Amino acid sequence: DLRPTPSSQGIPVLDPAPPLPDTSPVAFFGELSKQFPEGIFSLNIAGQENVFVYDPDLVTEVSDETRFGKPIFAPLSHVRDYTGAGLFTAHEVEDGDAWGMAHRILMPAFSQRAMKNYYGQMLEIAQSLVGKWANAEGEPVRITDDYTRLTLDTIALSGFGYRFDSFAEEELHPFLNALLEALVESMRRSQELPEMTALRTDDDKRYRTNIQLMRDLVESVIKERRQGRSSGEDDLLGLMLQATDPETGRPLDDDNVRDQVVTFLIAGHETTSGLLSFATYSLMRNPHVLAQAYAEVDRLMPGDTLPDYDTIMKMDVIPRILEETLRLWAPIPQIMKAPLEDTVIGGRYELKQGTKTNLLMGPLHTHPKAWERPHEFDIDRWLPENRARHHQHAYKPFGNGRRACIGRQFALTEARLALALVLQKFKFSDTTDYKMDVREALTRKPGDFELVIRRRQEHE
Ligand code: HEM
Repeated sequence: DLRPTPSSQGIPVLDPAPPLPDTSPVAFFGELSKQFPEGIFSLNIAGQENVFVYDPDLVTEVSDETRFGKPIFAPLSHVRDYTGAGLFTAHEVEDGDAWGMAHRILMPAFSQRAMKNYYGQMLEIAQSLVGKWANAEGEPVRITDDYTRLTLDTIALSGFGYRFDSFAEEELHPFLNALLEALVESMRRSQELPEMTALRTDDDKRYRTNIQLMRDLVESVIKERRQGRSSGEDDLLGLMLQATDPETGRPLDDDNVRDQVVTFLIAGHETTSGLLSFATYSLMRNPHVLAQAYAEVDRLMPGDTLPDYDTIMKMDVIPRILEETLRLWAPIPQIMKAPLEDTVIGGRYELKQGTKTNLLMGPLHTHPKAWERPHEFDIDRWLPENRARHHQHAYKPFGNGRRACIGRQFALTEARLALALVLQKFKFSDTTDYKMDVREALTRKPGDFELVIRRRQEHE
């Protein structure tokens, strides 16, 4: 029987810490959070203090960038084995100015305006998805796998002019398997002592092979561009190879460009495919919302009308579905911050400089202080008049401050478009009565999510 006791710093702690499950640690932290209505608790994991925070007012303090920064501790320190000083895993101090340079060079490529440049390619890949599903009439389809094909192909084509052609293949691309295994290994390493990792020599060999596979692919993408076999002056790769940092006048070095491409191939697809999968799941569970979505699509895209960029920007129901999905099923369920100096939050919880301070998205996004009927999928929360009343720091699906997601507009544009095209053409039936089975590997997604797809007839 585990009972919380206040630690010397005033933070409730489970001591001894319960053993962590191998597969879904974040879901486990979410369960533990129910024992701590204070909205904060602490656990010792692999010899280190980990604080978890989800009270919206405490999160407000942790979101103050003058007091808290993004540390690169495990698991991100392990993810660095393949993403190096790419934006996601760069240290702001120890990596020199790598983060600042890449941030300044790439920001313009992620503005809302810039999304227009990628739209044609986003549409092309979304049409490949629809084409595949049109030929799967009446069959069970592995929904999450196909959304993964969509998002990987989209970031690769619009960011780097590279074609994975995933919809032509039965199997998922080897890059994806290498990535998944590498992510799982990084997570595992972050939950054990280094002496344990050192004993697992076969796993280490496999880890290195997987990393090499990802790097080789990326090197070939860069080589194609350098040899002029793919074009795209102002796509991400074009910018990284040519643009110089407005502040220092320097370009990114070759290793950093490689690390950024790996970073974007990963960060640019994992999460968005999770978002689309959870959104589809949520629509299946909420038929009245699905009906609203069909009505919107039929109004803006009657018959087989292809949406243009302006149509996507006019949508109202579909964006609210995505926001509510990100509330209940944030694909990145936990992010880490750390105090820059010793500090006190909530007037009584002491945090030493550098303490791992984790924001738990699930408990934060359903905290009763900030959300009415927190577990209900209600897209009307996102109507402008209701949105204005939200707690300012109870919703962080894209992270916080300057280390928040650079790809937010990209993800939302791509997801709106994909969902709109899918709903224009198809209806789904859940013949196997799918029970949500969340899989965690840095991000989370529904595991083994299958639906039967049928084409919509007129007036359905
Ligand atoms: C950072 C979520 C899509 C690229 C982040 C962070 C979150 C997040 C929570 C902060 C992580 C932290 O604090 O450690 C999401 C979600 C997405 C999404 C929920 C989709 C629904 C994308 C896309 C791209 C992208 C499409 C690229 C095209 C990045 C990068 C960072 C980042 C490069 C690191 C930014 C920095 O530290 O400077 N994302 N993301 N993300 N994301 Fe996303």
